[in-house]
Amino acid sequence: MPARPRKVAHSGRLITFEGGEGAGKSTQLRRLARRLEQAGLAVTVTREPGGTPAAEAIRDFVLSGRARDLGHDAEAILFAAARADHVDRLIRPALTRGEWVLCDRFIDSTRAYQGSAGVDARLIRALERVAVGDCMPDLTLVLDLPVESGLARMAARARGEGGGPDRFEQDGAGVHQRRREAFLAIAREEPERCVVIDAGQSEEAVAAAIWTAIRNRLPAQAA
Ligand code: TYD
Repeated sequence: MPARPRKVAHSGRLITFEGGEGAGKSTQLRRLARRLEQAGLAVTVTREPGGTPAAEAIRDFVLSGRARDLGHDAEAILFAAARADHVDRLIRPALTRGEWVLCDRFIDSTRAYQGSAGVDARLIRALERVAVGDCMPDLTLVLDLPVESGLARMAARARGEGGGPDRFEQDGAGVHQRRREAFLAIAREEPERCVVIDAGQSEEAVAAAIWTAIRNRLPAQAA
């Protein structure tokens, strides 16, 4: 099997947004993108699962619940397949062009969601190596919120949009709690990569905390 490309020489930055349901990741990601663009940086915004046609097809399949009967390991493998295509066709090329890539969910969602569902950590790490190689995030923002607040926000959003919950949103509060704890554990284990942001504050305050994290962690680039 050919080795996946190792570390690419690039001046771009990969920033991932992680956290449970209703934490406001997408809103904050868009705000940060605007701010970085105003600072004169080229920004690519993307999401997981998704970001390429093949990965979006996998997204539809998994989030509709049609992969549920295959089991948690298979879902983890499908997320990894989507991620490999996303990294190869969108993320790595954008980084090579020197862009800042902001990604809504990435490897830590697999660790937290599929990991807390019982998928073996060794399988998850192996899938990461295959899908991501050395294309690891420069910074991961973990938007943290008590489960009850996240579920309430999610319900309000669903009422507004008229859509039902997806495969993973349907799970009970205990499952969401395990995912929250898993994200916090990742941030404790990898403090050089991860910053926990209190997502219970106002949208403005969360945006300010994110900007502070960017300036502290990636100071040379973001003025
Ligand atoms: P999405 O609508 O993007 O969720 P959110 O708005 O909360 O970010 O749906 C993605 C769902 O897929 C979400 O419930 C988390 C789940 N997921 C995993 O379980 N594992 C993964 O590796 C990824 C990327 C997402």
